[in-house]
Amino acid sequence: MSDKRVMVIGSGGRECAFAWKLNKDNEVGQVYCAPGNGGTSAFAINIDCDINNNNEILEQVIKYKIDLVLVGPEAPLANGIVDFLKTNDINVFGPDKYASQLESSKLFAREVMAEYNIPQPKYKKCSSAEEVLEVKNDWGLPIVIKADGLAAGKGVIICEDENSFNEALDLMFKKSGFGDASKSVSVEECLYGEELSIFAVCDGQDYKILNTAQDHKRAYDNDLGPNTGGMGAYSPTPLSTENILSQTENKIIKPILTAMKDKGHPYTGFLYVGIMIVNNEPYVIEFNVRMGDPETQVVIPLLKDSFYSLLNSCLSGNLKNVNLEISSKTAVTIVLAADGYPNSYNKGMEIFELDQIEDGSVFHAGTTLVDKKIITSGGRVLNVVGIGDNLKDAILKAYKLAEKISFEGKFFRKDIGKKGLSYK
Ligand SMILES: Nc1ncnc2c1ncn2[C@@H]1O[C@H](COP(=O)(O)OP(=O)(O)O)[C@@H](O)[C@H]1O
Ligand SMILES: [Mg+2]
Repeated sequence: MSDKRVMVIGSGGRECAFAWKLNKDNEVGQVYCAPGNGGTSAFAINIDCDINNNNEILEQVIKYKIDLVLVGPEAPLANGIVDFLKTNDINVFGPDKYASQLESSKLFAREVMAEYNIPQPKYKKCSSAEEVLEVKNDWGLPIVIKADGLAAGKGVIICEDENSFNEALDLMFKKSGFGDASKSVSVEECLYGEELSIFAVCDGQDYKILNTAQDHKRAYDNDLGPNTGGMGAYSPTPLSTENILSQTENKIIKPILTAMKDKGHPYTGFLYVGIMIVNNEPYVIEFNVRMGDPETQVVIPLLKDSFYSLLNSCLSGNLKNVNLEISSKTAVTIVLAADGYPNSYNKGMEIFELDQIEDGSVFHAGTTLVDKKIITSGGRVLNVVGIGDNLKDAILKAYKLAEKISFEGKFFRKDIGKKGLSYK
């Protein structure tokens, strides 16, 4: 029966990939995106809606008789959209507000990890510049200072010398660059090692590993330039050896699920575990309570099963009986960005050659449909995806697509996945 109506909340490349996958599902009749983008408008119904307003979302969910809501970004989760929709008897996939603190409060996450002996860097909660100074005098540099609250990926400062340390203190406590997000900070031991992300789906009791990935946060090649939302990713990463995966499951994922259950908030949703490998052991850098962007654009295409029934199995607490089938291929995504991103950039440029692209090979992010033309409307414009038998092959395929599509001011990194080749 293909009559289910699913609503995806969000407007980026991640949500475009979710919507694309759901649209292919036998059980799904219609996908709705709130608000979606130029890409989702091709196969879903876009609904104009403020996703940080729970009442507005509920109104749309009722109006369109939605059977399942999938929340993409962290802000609505931190706003308690899941609790709110559930009280109104709506089926919604994602963690509740309490459990979402694993992402929305870095200190909440650190404290739970400490309580359950989950491997993490040494840390200290500080609420004033004086307290941070004391820690620095005690531990010495380098140290990492993290704003406690959500800061759109800008709230972490690695202090390697006195200068950056003093600037960080100013930013956190004097200039209040992060508002309430930096009322408290987590001061952390600075670890050095390779980073990767491990993605799990969870139903409150059980979990399944979806896949692993490595992203590329800096704007320019060789990890140089300013931090961005992410310029590309590949999945899986050779860093996720059996040993690293089993340690991550046993020392991190299982205990954090136990912790959330103990606290009366069993964890349902995607769990993004960001780890750093030090001496062959995984340490938690952070948890996110949703999928990553652009990692979703490589993880979702490799999922062989019905995405809709996977989400439903989680909501009914039936994940245990699901036999997840993941393709053994490798996927690479490259972000095509607008010149100037992550700083100021132009919008409104027409995008060409999109109709020449095979289905599932491009996920839109910052695009809009205007008068039958797709134009740019954001800094990260498109994600092209190459899938191959191995990483090298997938890189080649993705770069062919990156060259093919054109718009004025297009720029992209030329080294996505290169790190991955060096691990082999
Ligand atoms: N304790 C740490 N030691 C070394 N590097 C860190 C540490 N914490 C964070 N980082 C670096 O900073 C980046 C951002 O930190 P993260 O906790 O992931 O915050 P966010 O993604 O919210 O900005 C990480 O990907 C990692 O490279
Ligand atoms: Mg991070």
